[in-house]
Amino acid sequence: MVLVRETVTGDWQALRDIRLEALRDAPAAFGSTYEREILRPEAHWHDRIARGGTFLAFLPEVSAAEPAGLIGGYPEDPVTVELVSMYVRPRARGCGVGEALVATVISWARARNAASVHLWVTETNAHARALYERCGFALTGERQPLPSDPALGEVAMSRTLPCRGTSPDPRSSGRSGPA
Ligand SMILES: CC(C)(COP(=O)(O)OP(=O)(O)OC[C@H]1O[C@@H](n2cnc3c(N)ncnc32)[C@H](O)[C@@H]1OP(=O)(O)O)[C@@H](O)C(=O)NCCC(=O)NCCS
Repeated sequence: MVLVRETVTGDWQALRDIRLEALRDAPAAFGSTYEREILRPEAHWHDRIARGGTFLAFLPEVSAAEPAGLIGGYPEDPVTVELVSMYVRPRARGCGVGEALVATVISWARARNAASVHLWVTETNAHARALYERCGFALTGERQPLPSDPALGEVAMSRTLPCRGTSPDPRSSGRSGPA
């Protein structure tokens, strides 16, 4: 069973720990770097919690205290939520944690009346791309150098969300889309 909850201000150290682990474990998956974020002051982590939806996932059978995964959803503009910082700890992979986190951001975006969720993923990150595709995301055609390693490219994916109160748009839902 995967439990996902939104972070509150008292979670800032757990958020910092898992984010720094993500940047060490999978540097090619993120636009930022461990070296940059280790220097961030406490206020930065509180700001992250305050400026959007930052969520931690737990696998209670593994640990009720230590998060198994992290994701963020930040309003990019009035109609778009940017999905960021997706990470599942190695021993929690393959348990549905990633899908549960993506589903949470999609629900969070829908509750804010967003029209779509957008994300960037490293072109060569096959596991993440497959997960996003299963969750109903499709390539947008955008591509740019990965900020932390411009030798790599990142591609954008997006999922449109049905307006609240209307029936789901069949063009926007993946086979097992979680919204
Ligand atoms: C991408 C990621 C979030 C997927 O997490 P997840 O919850 O395991 O995703 P899934 O449940 O969809 O995994 C599906 C399968 O791929 C395997 N898998 C997932 N990520 C893997 C990885 N990085 N290396 C090897 N196998 C992986 C899982 O074990 C699982 O295998 P199974 O079907 O045989 O059980 C996770 O691999 C991760 O955190 N990677 C590093 C950070 C990253 O790439 N973030 C994305 C930024 S855009």
